[in-house]
Amino acid sequence: MIVSGSTSQSLAAALAAELGEPLGAVEQTAFPDGESKFALAPPANKSFADVDRAVIVASTTTAEAHLEVLQLQDAAREADINEVVTVLPYMGYGRQDRAFEAGEPVTARAIAQALSAGTDRILTVTPHEPDVCEFFDPPATAVDAEALLAEPLQTTPDPTLADPLFLSPDAGAIEIAETVRDAYGAGAVDHFEKTRNSGTDVSIEPGGADVADRDVVVVDDIVATGSTMSESIGVLQDRGVDRVFVACVHPLLARDARSKLARAGVEAIVATDTIERTVSTVSAAPAIAEEL
Ligand code: R5P
Repeated sequence: MIVSGSTSQSLAAALAAELGEPLGAVEQTAFPDGESKFALAPPANKSFADVDRAVIVASTTTAEAHLEVLQLQDAAREADINEVVTVLPYMGYGRQDRAFEAGEPVTARAIAQALSAGTDRILTVTPHEPDVCEFFDPPATAVDAEALLAEPLQTTPDPTLADPLFLSPDAGAIEIAETVRDAYGAGAVDHFEKTRNSGTDVSIEPGGADVADRDVVVVDDIVATGSTMSESIGVLQDRGVDRVFVACVHPLLARDARSKLARAGVEAIVATDTIERTVSTVSAAPAIAEEL
C-alpha cells in the first residue's frame, strides 16, 4: 500500500501506478488547539491484515511535513503492517549536514534520527550529500533521479538543443550535469565556481567553455531561492549564450525564485516532482520504483 503525505500526492499516485500497488487513504483533521490528526485507512476492499507493507511518500519541505511523516509511520505501526518504508522524495534540512559554525546543530542528523524510529527502510532522492543516508538507523538508500531530466530536454525545446553545454554552478554538482548529459546522449560538460556570500547572495565565476551562440543547460540538485541559477544565467548572457535551460531535481523555488529566473531570461525549467510545483513535469516515480 502506498501512503501519500500531503506534500507528495502526485508522486505517490505515480508511484502506485508504477508499482501496481494500491493507495491507502489518509484523512487529515485537526484538534481544537490546532494539533494535526491523521487517520490511515486501508485501500478499497482490503483490510490492514491484507497489507504487507506501507510505503509512506512525503517530501519534508516544512516542519508540518516532518511531523506528518512521524504520524503516518506510527499509524502504520499501529495498524500492525509488517514493513514500513519511508520515501522522502526531498529530504528537508538535508543541506545542514554538518555544523558549519560552532554552536550549530547537525539538523540533518537530528531529523534522520527522529524519522528512523518508525520505519524499516528509508529512500531519499538525490540528497545534497549521499552521506546523509548514514544518519539513519535503518538501511537508507539514495535514489538517483537526475537522468530522468534528459527526456524533456530531448523532446520539448523547439528548435532542439544545438551543441548543448551541460553546466553545473559549482564543482560539487558536476556529476549531476554529467549524468544528465550522458542520458541526453550528446554535449559537453563544464562547471562554474560559486561562492555563497549569504543565504540569498552568491557570486559566480565562469568556467573555461565557450558559450557564445550556444544552448546551455544549467544543472543543479536544488533550486531554492534561485540566486545560484539567476547569477549563472547572468554570467552566461554576458558571454553571448543563445538559450539557457535550467534542469534540477528538486524545484524548491522558495520566495520569488520563479520570477527571479524569468527575469534572468531562462528559456524553460525542467524539474522532477520530488517537490510538486508547476515546473515538475518529470516524475521521479520510475527511479524510486526501481529501488522498491
Ligand atoms: C547547494 O550547494 C545546492 O546545490 C544548490 O546550488 C543551492 O541549494 C541553490 O540554492 P539557491 O537557489 O538559493 O541559490
